[in-house]
Amino acid sequence: MKLTIALLPGDGIGPEIMTQGLNVTKAICEKFGHELTCKEGVVGACAIDETGDPYPPETHALCMQSDAVLFGAIGNPKYDNDPTAKVRPEQGLLRMRKQLGLYGNIRPVMTFPSLIHKSPLRSELVEGVDFLCVRELTGGLYFGRPQGRSEDGDTAYDTCVYTREEVERVLHLAYRFAGQRRKRLTVVDKANILATSRLWRQVAQEVALGYPDVETDFLFVDNAAMRLIQWPKSFDVLVTENMFGDILTDEASVITGSLGLLPSASIGLHTSVYEPVHGSYPQAAGRNIANPLAMILCVALMFEYSFQRMEEGAWIREAVNASLEAGIVTEDIAGDGKAYTTSEVGEWITRYIQDKGKR
Ligand code: IPM
Ligand code: MG
Repeated sequence: MKLTIALLPGDGIGPEIMTQGLNVTKAICEKFGHELTCKEGVVGACAIDETGDPYPPETHALCMQSDAVLFGAIGNPKYDNDPTAKVRPEQGLLRMRKQLGLYGNIRPVMTFPSLIHKSPLRSELVEGVDFLCVRELTGGLYFGRPQGRSEDGDTAYDTCVYTREEVERVLHLAYRFAGQRRKRLTVVDKANILATSRLWRQVAQEVALGYPDVETDFLFVDNAAMRLIQWPKSFDVLVTENMFGDILTDEASVITGSLGLLPSASIGLHTSVYEPVHGSYPQAAGRNIANPLAMILCVALMFEYSFQRMEEGAWIREAVNASLEAGIVTEDIAGDGKAYTTSEVGEWITRYIQDKGKR
């Protein structure tokens, strides 16, 4: 198979984890006889420094021409601490999502048996957790207009907007995933307060009729936040609007022990983008300590979702599990044990893939 992949390492720890993701991709392509072409583009703060634009047209063209995009992270404290900055790295990420039509962000949450003791929750709550968050990614508060400040600067406003079409398409995506899994979909909203949530609930009730084999239930977002911690095993597929999804998936990520383990796939009208859920982690940038597993698991998701290559995905997952079981882990999960560097963990996994079959 011929694979053309765009690499957008971005900011912070992005370049370091991307190197490991790329090495794993190369090792898999070598093993399975795929012809790999990779091209690199800039996005985020580094793109502002280089071109003045956090998502330059060249980067967009590169994404459009590729079969899949691997994305590292964006963000730089220099902008976080300057609320007056006109051009911000996050605008690049948002424009990429919008311009590529990435309306559905899939964030699978699964426990790793060897890490259950790392979870802040009791083991009996965590064992066997396996659910999927489908976050709407191109609407809601992130994109609603008007947004801004009053003339005197003392009042600020954001607008939450959803159209029926935006809600419908992400619900169909969530139902399709639920249909392939345990056939339970939880729609998370705040329909007791928000007009957009009432539209979500109404549209979901209609769309549900087309998926009679999937059981649908509704939860208010505050209740969902509580249930995620109290009884994470009760979820199969969860679908929600952009901002609720952003918040709930950070919460969900720690159930499995570390934010550094959670990959995501953004799917929509054009090329899909695979990005770790963790951010740019600027404190760790350049120190070779960040966890590369979320990025490496993004590569697994890419083979599974974009190329329907389940075996390649399974090889990567096996290698990741083996590294965890062998204790070849970065400091975020090492605890009192030995902490390995980003490149040591990545190289161990790459070698595991290269040596598979020889063992
Ligand atoms: C995420 C991140 C982004 C978001 C930030 C970096 C803009 O938190 O992908 O969850 O809020 O969507
Ligand atoms: Mg987030």
